[in-house]
Amino acid sequence: MIKILHLTFVLLSISSFVGRVYLAEKRPELLEQKWIKIGPHIVNTLLLITGFTLVFQGSWLSGEYGWIVAKIIALLGYVGLGMVAIKSQGALRWQAFAGALACFIYIGIVAVSKNAFFFL
Ligand code: HEM
Repeated sequence: MIKILHLTFVLLSISSFVGRVYLAEKRPELLEQKWIKIGPHIVNTLLLITGFTLVFQGSWLSGEYGWIVAKIIALLGYVGLGMVAIKSQGALRWQAFAGALACFIYIGIVAVSKNAFFFL
């Protein structure tokens, strides 16, 4: 059940991020709307909470937990680069956007493989 919630927030998080980058490019004035500003914070907080709940529920910390640390570090990259993508313009925006998407995809693969170094 928590996993379904977690995956729902994963989808909401990435779609709200792509949506905001689109608005930043096409209709930046809409980003000033209160719900567009606050909504993603709520979604990302719930994503984190459900993630940590899964960690404790599954006793994931008692075994090999490097992949969880990798997920959290990549999450910081996703959030940080995501902020740059929304606030900057031009080439920097698209480089940060690509980086944020790469972090997101990495997180997803690590979640499924439970291996931070799945590419080795
Ligand atoms: C953008 C952020 C995130 C993405 C894209 C993501 C993605 C996923 C996916 C796809 C799964 C399902 C894996 C499977 O069924 O095999 C999952 C499960 C899980 N996630 Fe996340 N997650 C994110 C953030 C987090 C965070 C921040 C934490 C912990 C602090 C976390 C902890 C977990 C745990 C413990 C599971 C359960 C693994 C299992 O039961 O197999 N996730 N996540």
